[in-house]
Amino acid sequence: MKISKLVEKIPPSGIRVFFDLVLGMKDVISLGVGEPDFITPWNIRERAIYSLEEGYTSYTSNKGLIELRHEISRYLKHKYGLEYDPEEEILVTVGVSEALDLALRAIVNKGDKILIPEPSYVSYGPITTLCGGSPIFIKTSPENGFKITPKDINKFCDIKTKAIILNYPNNPTGTSYSKAELKTISKIALRHGIIMVSDEIYCDLTYTFDHTPFSALPHMKERTIYLNGFSKAYAMTGWRIGYACGPRNIISSMTKIHQYTMMCVPITSQMAALEALKNGEKAVQEMKREYKRRREFVVSRLNEIGLSCHKPEGTFYAFPSIKSSGLSSMEFARELLKKEKVAVVPGTAFGPSGEGHIRISYASSLDRLKEALARIEIFLSKNKVR
Ligand SMILES: Cc1ncc(COP(=O)(O)O)c(C=O)c1O
Repeated sequence: MKISKLVEKIPPSGIRVFFDLVLGMKDVISLGVGEPDFITPWNIRERAIYSLEEGYTSYTSNKGLIELRHEISRYLKHKYGLEYDPEEEILVTVGVSEALDLALRAIVNKGDKILIPEPSYVSYGPITTLCGGSPIFIKTSPENGFKITPKDINKFCDIKTKAIILNYPNNPTGTSYSKAELKTISKIALRHGIIMVSDEIYCDLTYTFDHTPFSALPHMKERTIYLNGFSKAYAMTGWRIGYACGPRNIISSMTKIHQYTMMCVPITSQMAALEALKNGEKAVQEMKREYKRRREFVVSRLNEIGLSCHKPEGTFYAFPSIKSSGLSSMEFARELLKKEKVAVVPGTAFGPSGEGHIRISYASSLDRLKEALARIEIFLSKNKVR
């Protein structure tokens, strides 16, 4: 059977390929997957259970329960002073994954260029390709904290450039941007008339400074598609719920696609998300405190054992350099798994600029992190620089 040419063009996820190796191995400490080790807080689970008992089992409005959209709007206003109209500027989606897909499908015409700072979250390039767009990867490096600069953007902007997908705090590097840095990027976006697709799924896990949403910057609300969700901060990956906020014509176009593909997000997840926004902040702050504690430990241990690592401003990822080992990212991850049974993700799973790095998720208990880092230290001592 002939497969679509677009689908043939995209590679399988580098993370999945690697984790197929982990399956079936015993006693592996996995610092690989990008999901919280916490279970969804009890009040959120309980609300979902009770909603089923109450008989909430139907479809909802395509855009999502109006009560939930009101709560999202209230949350964004309270937290960042953002004003989004729950009727027309907010769409509840199946995770940020769907929101991202809808955003790109709503704006991309064949041949449009989409700028993606790299290393990047694994789905940005493939989704752009599936939409008929051309992903243009902008290399970032540890020397500048894996940040893109206005100069980089300028260099890649031309008449065909439609949007930038910016993700901060960033998966895989943990990098985030200060308000001043975001402002300089916004000026370039404005000058070139490009759309910002801003994936801020880790915004509640920012440690170093206050998070600034891109759409809160002057003149940016009208050209930003703001994406956020419940998977990370509320430990709700399995509920598959997120949302997009943006200009009404874009949200209505995204809703049109969502209407024909998903119809709506499962009502049980929407009920849970409503509870998360109303009564979840305390649990988010507790989990955040724990991630922060682990970040201090992981980063200082990595530097101590010779894997230089900048301190991530957010997320639950560290992205240390493994250049001192003399191994490539893939060799390092493979050998570490084989010899010491610790699974990490090779930096190249996120693009070629990830070479020389690995991604370590510290969404694991401190005890497991201690054991994993002890094993990495042993691995390094047995593999002295070639
Ligand atoms: C940067 C980024 N965006 C989006 C997603 C997808 O999140 P969701 O579970 O909301 O689909 C992830 C998940 O790892 C992510 O790291």
